[in-house]
Amino acid sequence: MEKTRILVTGGTGYIGSHTTVELINAGYDVVIIDNLSNSNADVIDGIEAITGVRPAFVKGDCTDVATLRKLFTDYPGIKGIINFAASKAVGESVQKPLLYYRNNLDTLINLLELMPEFGVKGFVFSSSCTVYGEPDVNPVTEQSPIKAATSPYGNTKQISEEIITDAIHAGAPWNAIILRYFNPVGAHPTALIGELPNGVPQNLLPYLTQTAMGIRKELSVFGDDYPTRDGSCIRDYINVVDLAKAHVIAVKRLVEEKTLEPVEIFNLGTGDGVSVLELINTFEQATGVKVPHKIVGRRAGDITQVWADPSRANNVLGWTAKETLADTMISAWKWQEHLREKGIM
Ligand code: NAD
Ligand code: UFG
Repeated sequence: MEKTRILVTGGTGYIGSHTTVELINAGYDVVIIDNLSNSNADVIDGIEAITGVRPAFVKGDCTDVATLRKLFTDYPGIKGIINFAASKAVGESVQKPLLYYRNNLDTLINLLELMPEFGVKGFVFSSSCTVYGEPDVNPVTEQSPIKAATSPYGNTKQISEEIITDAIHAGAPWNAIILRYFNPVGAHPTALIGELPNGVPQNLLPYLTQTAMGIRKELSVFGDDYPTRDGSCIRDYINVVDLAKAHVIAVKRLVEEKTLEPVEIFNLGTGDGVSVLELINTFEQATGVKVPHKIVGRRAGDITQVWADPSRANNVLGWTAKETLADTMISAWKWQEHLREKGIM
């Protein structure tokens, strides 16, 4: 039987590469487009080493309609799109808002406009728990209020969700699933793919593993005076392979036209809130490696706590986060060791 063809935009990136592996393992034919603005083409080698299959790769920019039209013509019969391509650094988005609105929204609109022309039936969108802002109540469900965005990046996610919903309401001939990720962490257990941040990491886990490796002197814990059990902020850290698997379920549901509504929204998290200090402790226990750290002041813009109620994804998609936090920490450490062995970092 012919394999179902799926377009993965941003497929050489962190979550896109892990999702490509899971799609190939599930029997899909994957075409990747990525402009390599935040990733490296070598990632394709890692995907091939894990799966034994080399996905088709187009180096191109999703903000360029002609590039996308050529891709859909060269690779006919694409049934679904998973759209990871976006700029994602919160701090940079405050400095360069127009770049963020241009890149994230043009990419989205181009893809949605081309779907009817090429008969694409399903669209999966990477959203974020950032849309809930500082929630009044945790855990958050998909019905929890959407709060005003605190950065242009966060705003692109809110606007993107609205663009998708408006297009559906106007009768678009495709269906969509919006996935709101909590904090994706960890790497593939083979350590052949993982997260490769540019420059000094802004996110907790890459900073932590680089500190454990001795690349950074000390991890700064941003605040221990929050109203939480140990004073540090609480997040819902979701294993990237678990997260990737949810995309396979979502795209299958769209391609097989099994969605209950034309646009469905799901939280993707574990349901457990973990503090920064607890995360450091879990890493140290799981790997036996110490993480030098110090408490510093709060980071501007951080929220105190957010964690998911993932029951809708559990019940409707039949998806549950399975990896333990300890195993996820080990995967992140193995990936950091792989980068050292390869002389990358
Ligand atoms: P990433 O930067 O590793 O991957 C994004 C990929 O898209 C990169 O490879 C980049 O080169 C590519 N890209 C960017 N703009 C492009 C364009 N115009 N055309 C083609 N390729 C382009 O990021 P990630 O962590 O894998 O995130 C994937 C998606 O998930 C993003 O939309 C991000 O906003 C969203 N998300 C991420 C997180 C997180 O914490 N990692 C949380 C919530 C949502
Ligand atoms: N933190 C530190 N030290 C660091 C880095 C982070 O203490 O060096 C703390 C932060 O204060 C926060 C927690 O670790 O309490 C997690 O911070 P991250 O920067 O890793 O993640 P955020 O929750 O701030 O935001 C991330 C992404 C956003 C996305 C959001 C929800 O960066 O793009 O998750 O998905 F919107």
